[in-house]
Amino acid sequence: MRTVGRIFRVLIMLPIAFSSCTINKPDESQTQKAYYTEQYRPQFHFSPDSMWMNDPNGMVYYEGEYHLFYQYHPHSTVWGPMHWGHAITTDLVHWEHLPIALYPDSLGTIFSGSAVIDWNNSSGLGSGENPPMVAIFTHHNHALEKTESNLFQYQSIAYSLDKGRSWTKYAGNPVIPNPGLRDFRDPKVSWYEAGQKWIMVLAAQDRIMFYSSPDLIQWTKESEFNADLGPDEGVWECPDFFPLPYGEETKWVLFVSIGDGGPNGGSGTKYYIGDFDGSEFTSDDPTGGTRWLDYGKDNYAGVTWSDVPSEDGRRIFLGWMSNWQYAGHVPSERWRSAMTLPRELKLGKDERGYLLSSIPVHETEQLRTEHYKLEPGALKERNNVGPAIEDEYPLYEIDLVFELNPEEEEEIEFGIILESEQHEKLLAAFNTRTQEVSIARQESGRTDFSVHFPGIHTAPYQLSEAGEIRFHAFIDLSSVELFVDNGAVVMTELCFPESGFESIHLYSSQESVLLKEGMIYSLKRVW
Ligand code: FRU
Repeated sequence: MRTVGRIFRVLIMLPIAFSSCTINKPDESQTQKAYYTEQYRPQFHFSPDSMWMNDPNGMVYYEGEYHLFYQYHPHSTVWGPMHWGHAITTDLVHWEHLPIALYPDSLGTIFSGSAVIDWNNSSGLGSGENPPMVAIFTHHNHALEKTESNLFQYQSIAYSLDKGRSWTKYAGNPVIPNPGLRDFRDPKVSWYEAGQKWIMVLAAQDRIMFYSSPDLIQWTKESEFNADLGPDEGVWECPDFFPLPYGEETKWVLFVSIGDGGPNGGSGTKYYIGDFDGSEFTSDDPTGGTRWLDYGKDNYAGVTWSDVPSEDGRRIFLGWMSNWQYAGHVPSERWRSAMTLPRELKLGKDERGYLLSSIPVHETEQLRTEHYKLEPGALKERNNVGPAIEDEYPLYEIDLVFELNPEEEEEIEFGIILESEQHEKLLAAFNTRTQEVSIARQESGRTDFSVHFPGIHTAPYQLSEAGEIRFHAFIDLSSVELFVDNGAVVMTELCFPESGFESIHLYSSQESVLLKEGMIYSLKRVW
């Protein structure tokens, strides 16, 4: 039995630093209130104004704008004929919607893909003064799919000469015809400086194919990468491939999203770290246990921005905050789904070798309004650490460092409880016996729309010898993103409380757990 059951018997709330206080956030104008105020609407995450969205696509930075294209069905809140929706942000926090960028055409609907700035005009589609923005995507031909043919997915390009505002499809599409594979999609392209050529990674059933090109038009297959498939693993989708520094070294990271067989069921994104010789990728650890980018159930098909200026140097990621098990059934009405917060990726190391960590980009600090410092102290069975934000939009960032006595032998479970006025609860916890971080969302609000939604989801976590563990979390109206120890373990989970979680409690099954440092920020809405 999980020790967590004990906390519900304790009804008296014990303050740590200050008893719960109430803050009234300033009133917003009526105009602001009318927009993006539907029930469950994310307040500081990107979501489409209306209708269905899935994967982020074509993420490219150009002239001060981070572009986000996305899989979009403009006529329904469930998946259908795909277009590329479009939005931009200049600060990774505030978004501007732009008109649909790519519409289906005679070759098919527009599946996932990427975009790059063709700085040298290698494609000849722009000019030296005005380099083209080139989108590389999969055309999915539904008519052909209905026949016995396997050839219905192929790769095409389109270009824009006006900062992504209008697009022309390349007349010679497709640029890579289908070789006879039913699953052949999601090209992610980048410039490979050492070889002065473009590199494409493409998902092909159970493997990643590597292609290269001098001009984004003529493509040559270089190699294939595959590894032992996990049990029940769905087809490979949405790869990404990029270098990251670790000290003096450079390692290459390959992302693979799988529609089924994720760490807690359904969709998930795994990664491999290794070396690239300009043609072939070799993983340091092709079979020794999967590394997941995110252990929560709701981060899928994520990729990174291309062309972030080298003075910035960051590798910035964004994922689709949903899971194919229930994406079409979540209880939002006008729109369906949101993206994760943009995250910066870094390489670290543990006993198994290199590992990828993700932390929210520093720009998210702009979201902070009030902050509350918690005094250090022992956790009780249940501490009310406040503040209770009396606002229609209880939005928080929580940053807590806990300390355990590494000598302690008894099983301890401790963590955070987010609670709504309606007593809906979401728990984020660590258990010393199972050595798992968990998020329990079975009582977090609406869960009845799918049997795959409620549950306790876990991530393996090895407590350091110092016995410290940091929980850094962002809480929007229908999501929680938990970054443990600077993003070595991440969990992204949707939740649907009636009107957000208005109070925060800490709990522990033993009083030997200390809160060493703690900050709570209330956050503002961006819409
Ligand atoms: C991943 C995916 C991609 C495909 C797109 C279609 O979620 O299945 O493989 O290109 O969605 O919308």
